[in-house]
Amino acid sequence: MQKIIIAIDGYSSTGKSTVAKELAKHLGYVYVDTGAMYRAVTFFAMTHNLIDDDHFDVLGLVSKLNEVKINFKFNPTLGFAEVYLNGENIEKEIRTLEVSNKVSKVATVPEVRYQLVKQQQKMGEDKGLVMDGRDIGTVVFPYAKLKIFMTASPEKRAKRRYDELISRGDKVTFEAVLKNVQERDYIDSHRKDSPLRKAEDAIVIDNTGFTQEEQFKLILRLVERVFEDM
Ligand code: DC
Repeated sequence: MQKIIIAIDGYSSTGKSTVAKELAKHLGYVYVDTGAMYRAVTFFAMTHNLIDDDHFDVLGLVSKLNEVKINFKFNPTLGFAEVYLNGENIEKEIRTLEVSNKVSKVATVPEVRYQLVKQQQKMGEDKGLVMDGRDIGTVVFPYAKLKIFMTASPEKRAKRRYDELISRGDKVTFEAVLKNVQERDYIDSHRKDSPLRKAEDAIVIDNTGFTQEEQFKLILRLVERVFEDM
């Protein structure tokens, strides 16, 4: 059967990556979490003292972008690909609230976006790809056969992220996580380069009242419809 590209965009912590991973597994497709790539660049900037709470050396980061090598390696135990920065597994390091608090700023830098988008487009050359992010349906793969735009209330999204962080043993408050979700929504949808917006032909899914299973079934039906029309 012909393979397609599935683009899943939307606000932070809408469960995009959970459903994208499940879908890729079901279809035997490759899954790529583009947020992890922006987080990896942010982690690089943090460890090179280029960004902290009140300072961001944009030119310093841009001049070092050629030192940033991001790869994904499939981990069979976890069932998904983990992100590596210059050969080092940084999957755990990039999921902290410290990285979340800085990543939207890093993602506004056009040179960062240019590099990452180029890499993402290369990953789609063989199709058979589920990719999630903010600009996949609008910029990275404007011709994707299926585009989904996911949303949910900020409170539901913050609760999801809060539970994740607590289960990892991180010490955070619900209020701090909610504030981060709201700030990232604002920066992601107001930046000049590739702001978060729904592609005209994307299908909106508001999963505030859905279980994960209901949502998966709904998206699978959409995929099947695309295959039937091909
Ligand atoms: O999906 P996530 O929360 O891990 O993404 C982290 C940040 O990266 C998000 O706040 C905005 C940015 N991002 C982006 O600008 N474009 C993408 N395609 C993916 C993520």
